[in-house]
Amino acid sequence: MVTAGQNSSQECRPCPARTEVNMLMRRIGHDLRAPLRALQILPDWIAEEFEEAETEIPPQASEYMDMIKSKACQMDSLLSGLLEYALVANPEIEAKSFDPRAAIEEVAQKALPSGSYEIEMDPALLGLMVVEEDFRILFQHLLSNAVRHHGQGTAYVRIVGQLDGKTAVFQIEDNGPGIEAKFHQSIFEPFVTLKPRDEVEGSGLGLAVTKKISEWWGGDISVRSEFGRGTVFSLQFPAEISASLFGQNSHSRQR
Ligand SMILES: Nc1ncnc2c1ncn2[C@@H]1O[C@H](COP(=O)(O)OP(=O)(O)OP(=O)(O)O)[C@@H](O)[C@H]1O
Ligand SMILES: [Mg+2]
Repeated sequence: MVTAGQNSSQECRPCPARTEVNMLMRRIGHDLRAPLRALQILPDWIAEEFEEAETEIPPQASEYMDMIKSKACQMDSLLSGLLEYALVANPEIEAKSFDPRAAIEEVAQKALPSGSYEIEMDPALLGLMVVEEDFRILFQHLLSNAVRHHGQGTAYVRIVGQLDGKTAVFQIEDNGPGIEAKFHQSIFEPFVTLKPRDEVEGSGLGLAVTKKISEWWGGDISVRSEFGRGTVFSLQFPAEISASLFGQNSHSRQR
């Protein structure tokens, strides 16, 4: 069976250019990580040397050393985000049927405090066929955003999944600060954050990852929000549903 976003078994074969890009990204990830790790540790080593020499580090120098550590840490997470962006939607990974409710529940348990979310799932989506790892990554970003960008108060997230004809539709709604209409397109571009990175941690790659995955599946992701009134992300893509693993689902596929 072919996956949403892949039209024939021939097209499922990775093109050589893509394989090369993946290899290059992995090398970059590995080779850049080592010097970055060193930058995170070296200021501690310098501090130890001063301590052993029983010499005080001047406060300004100490502040600069902390800045080196925090910038190196920021760079490390930018690199992780970039690697993830390059490696999702990999044509070499085959789609398999799974239970989207269970996958979302697992992601939500890690990303959100207990009692701060609800999931409403159409049973017809049981046996959905896409790459489960990408599905989880996509929800990880949307759910962690709801908490990270919530600001004051407690985040609450409502997740609804429906099968609309042959389309899988998911809505992820939060009670956060909302997003101004003028940013509704740009937030899906890589490296766009609406607050400075020193203020709210983040690379600005999460939503770009969700867009890349949903478009690979032949679908789309969009946002509805009024500033100050929460945010709703809508995800949709052609649903491929396998009844072979989930016998009880076969009746709902005939809708
Ligand atoms: N649920 C939300 N409520 C309010 N603002 C949001 C929400 N989700 C995203 N945003 C805004 O959109 C920007 C882009 O989100 P995105 O997930 O791409 O990046 P990020 O969360 O800043 O970093 P990361 O790469 O770690 O995900 C965020 O920086 C934030 O300003
Ligand atoms: Mg994010």
